[in-house]
This record gives sequence, structure tokens and C-alpha cells, in this order.
Amino acid sequence: MTHIKLKCNECFNLHDSDMSIVNCELCDGTLDVEYISTQNNQKQINLKNGMRMIVPLNNPEKFVSLGEGNTPVLRFPRIEKELSLDRVFGKLEFMNPTGSFKDRGTFMMVSMALESNIDSLVEDSSGNAGASLSAYCAKTGLKAHIFAPESAPVSKLGQIKTYGAEVHLIKGSRDYVTSEAKRFYKENNYIYASHVLSPYYVEGTKTFAYEIANQFDYNLPENIVFPVGNGSLIIGCWKGLNELFNNKKIDKIPRLHCVQAEQFVPVIQEIKGDTEKNDLENPFSVAGGISVSSPARKKEVSEIVKKSFGKGVSVSDEEIIEWQKFLARREGIFCEPTSATVFAALKKLFDSNEIQSKDSVLVPVTGFGLKDKLFV
Ligand SMILES: Cc1ncc(COP(=O)(O)O)c(C=O)c1O
Ligand SMILES: [Zn+2]
Repeated sequence: MTHIKLKCNECFNLHDSDMSIVNCELCDGTLDVEYISTQNNQKQINLKNGMRMIVPLNNPEKFVSLGEGNTPVLRFPRIEKELSLDRVFGKLEFMNPTGSFKDRGTFMMVSMALESNIDSLVEDSSGNAGASLSAYCAKTGLKAHIFAPESAPVSKLGQIKTYGAEVHLIKGSRDYVTSEAKRFYKENNYIYASHVLSPYYVEGTKTFAYEIANQFDYNLPENIVFPVGNGSLIIGCWKGLNELFNNKKIDKIPRLHCVQAEQFVPVIQEIKGDTEKNDLENPFSVAGGISVSSPARKKEVSEIVKKSFGKGVSVSDEEIIEWQKFLARREGIFCEPTSATVFAALKKLFDSNEIQSKDSVLVPVTGFGLKDKLFV
């Protein structure tokens, strides 16, 4: 790849683009795609809405697709009334091909793997990223090894197996699942296609920003509220928004807020500069997608929240289930508990005067309800 390098977020050194590099070889920092292209050798894809987006692919016309993206935006009038907010919009990310927003990152990462002639990928996931990777690997004939916690929802594990991926069920914490996946890919000389670390994955989630810019006619809502585990959607959205801003397509960037489950607040702690260790022995939350104790990109996410003048908000399991039911019963939208966190957070942002009635809000509804355990 001659038009990109990989830049370390810690020491800012540049590395050649290669899928076998997942962390900075000098300091172990996380990596991002750095475009070194000139106008002449820039690579772009055409999005379904007619916009063009700069990409790391060498052959952008050949990217693999299952029809991801282009998800609808709806207004939630009953949520507005309940929360005393004038305008609340939801982008239905569960309408992506595997039922969650993860397909946005996966299409780019798997397209890069195909360009690099890779035939096997290893990933660890609480379920949705694994299901997404399994689907795109099925589509392209790649072998997928998915490491998942034994406690992952049976529906997500079933989805992964149905796509034909090899599932490695691991007993222990989510962090331990990651360390087992890393051990496995190193031992077998495979490629680690981590939705957390892959710089190419994040380039795919930028599509979220390009779509909302177009859907709101380049005049975005003032606030976007994200459920954050590892931060792949909020990071991609931030990058996309900055590209749009630098290209003068939008003239302001919304506040990006981060929601975490009370039992897992590493990003909120980072925002506050709080270094206290979480002493819960076996933390659990109904929001499985954001039950992450030590996200590799927490510094990046906290910087994004601060730079965009957003806030970090934590919510309880009780609040999450209450809002999951509210959305289903009053708006006809059945989302995962992880996705319902944003409504509980919105209430807190309103109650603390961070968001006022006149301020418009957008939330991604990240995953479909049937993918997770049921709490009725
Ligand atoms: C439904 C859902 N929403 C949100 C998230 C959080 O995404 P991220 O870990 O990229 O912050 C996940 C992650 O698995 C998820 O499955
Ligand atoms: Zn480095």
C-alpha cells in the first residue's frame, strides 16, 4: 500500500501498512491509518448516498459488501415526550446485514485482508463483531476463528456457527478471551482481525459520519450519544466528521457523548483522570457489548469526548432494561440492552442540564434485540 502508513497514537512513529502489524512495534501503542496520498493517488469509494470517502484500499472498486450501511434515521416522538426533548433521532444500525453496526468496520477490514491474500482471520468478541466477521468471511471464502466468552448469548454464538466460523469458547473474563485469541494467532502465524485494534476496521466505521451528514442535509444534530465498550463506532464517527469538516462539507462537529455500564467505566475514569482500580471481582452487566474492563483505545475515546465537549455517563442495569422496554413498547423498536443504554444516559444528560429541551440528539441503535438474552 503506497498511499497509507500506520501511525502510532502514542509515539507517532509511522509503520508500513501490513495486516500482520496490530500494535506499534516500538512502543505497543494503538495504530491508525495515516493517508500520505496526494490528490493524484488518493483512493476513494462511492457510498450508496453518492458521497465519496477516502479509504486505505488499493482497489476501492472491489470492496466486499453484504449491503451494509445506508441505515434509516427515525424520529422517536414518545422518547422526546418522556425526556422533554424537542428532537431525538435514532439511526437504526441493527438494520445492517448481521444485525449490528459492526458490519461497517468489517467490510473494510475483510476487503483489506482479501487485497493482502490472507486466508484465515482470528478475532475475539462478545458476539456481534464475531458474527459480523464470520459473515464477511463466509462471503469471501476466508476461514474465521472466533474467540468468545462461554457466557456469550446463545443466539450470537449460534449466528457465528451458522456462518461456518470456528468458535473457540473460553472460560473466564472478556480480557482473558482476548489474551487467548492473541496467543492462538501468534502460535499459528495467523492474522489478528481485531475490531478493537485494526486501523482498517475504524476506517470502515467512518461511513456512519458520512451517512448522517447526508441524511441531515449537512446540518447535524448538536449531540450524538454512543454506547462505548472499545469505542470503534465513536472513533470512526469522529474521524469521518473531521474529514467532512476539513473538506468543508459540514461547518460544525456535534458533541459526542460516551455511555458505559456502571460496572465497566474505564473510559469515564480516563475522562475524569480517575486512576482508581475497579475492585469488582466478577463484574457483570446486561449490556454485554460494552462490558469491557480495559479497552485498548480508551485514551483515544476519552480525548474525542473531551475535544467534542461531550460527557461520559454511566447507567445501571435496571435503567437499561427499563429503557429497552420503553423503546420496544412505545416506539416499536426492539434493540439489545447494550443499545438501550443511550436512552438512560439521555435522561441523565437532561436532568443534569448538559442537554436542554431545544438541543437535538441523535443515537445509533446499535444491535437488534433478538441477538441477546431476553429480560422480559
Ligand atoms: C450492540 C452493541 N452496541 C455497542 C457496542 C460497543 O461498541 P464498541 O466496543 O466499538 O464501543 C457493541 C460492542 O460489541 C455492541 O455489540
Ligand atoms: Zn509507538
